[in-house]
Amino acid sequence: MLVSATDMLRKAKAGHYAVGQFNINNLEWTKTILSTAKELRSPVILGVSEGAGKYMGGYDVVVGMVNGLLKDQNIDVPVSLHLDHGTYDHCYKCIDAGFSSIMFDGSHYSIEENVQKTTELVKVAHGKGLSIEAEVGSIGGEEDGVIGMGEVADPDECKQIADLGVDFLAAGIGNIHGKYPANWQGLSFETLDAIQKLTGDLPLVLHGGTGIPADMIKKAIDLGVSKINVNTECQLSFAAATRKYIEEGKDLEGKGFDPRKLLAPGAQAIHDTVKEKMELFGSVGKAD
Ligand code: 13P
Repeated sequence: MLVSATDMLRKAKAGHYAVGQFNINNLEWTKTILSTAKELRSPVILGVSEGAGKYMGGYDVVVGMVNGLLKDQNIDVPVSLHLDHGTYDHCYKCIDAGFSSIMFDGSHYSIEENVQKTTELVKVAHGKGLSIEAEVGSIGGEEDGVIGMGEVADPDECKQIADLGVDFLAAGIGNIHGKYPANWQGLSFETLDAIQKLTGDLPLVLHGGTGIPADMIKKAIDLGVSKINVNTECQLSFAAATRKYIEEGKDLEGKGFDPRKLLAPGAQAIHDTVKEKMELFGSVGKAD
């Protein structure tokens, strides 16, 4: 059964590790991420962007697929199904479809409007037993065609949103979605430290987990990050493994064109990436 992410992230914050949010795109992604979490006894959050939800056929399809896998694959670790960077309308759609967690990304609104909409959604989500993430200071880079500027959040605004009762908070600290450019300045640990001092026990979320060096990830966890989002890295490893299979001509050998064979190296690559991240984040063995 899907669970909200509140408990798993409170435990992560108290235990000084982070739970990975791995974004899903299709059955191969979902099945692989869930089986890796089960193998490593790790809690896991499946992230669904609005674009990915649409690609998979809609939120009902996503909920049906995930619930089906939990049952048929006997997934016995805590799993949360979370809307990633949700708009106001899509938060309601995902609540209705059966997600167990939502993110309302009001970072592009004025702080007043972000506060007003977040307040309303906190009430609705909690009323139905879902967890809710909010965002202050937009995360840079491109996601689903939207380019964020990569702001550094104002710690006082973070405190203001935290006090609305959200379960975890994403704050921009110089992190961006996708690959980091060569001239990236790194994470602003000063900002993260200031935010954690004001928000106390609230789990903090680090978006743009792809390509952040291991030492920065460790330091971010030390400073209160309990959820780390990874999307692009699984896409890159899937694509590289699939490319290799085809370049080696394997799809032309025997029944190598069968999708169950063609997509297998990519799925294995997602497994390896997820495993590496769970080990780095410290969530291995924390499911029980
Ligand atoms: P990356 O694609 O950079 O890993 O970021 C994922 C993310 O933050 C999803 O919200």
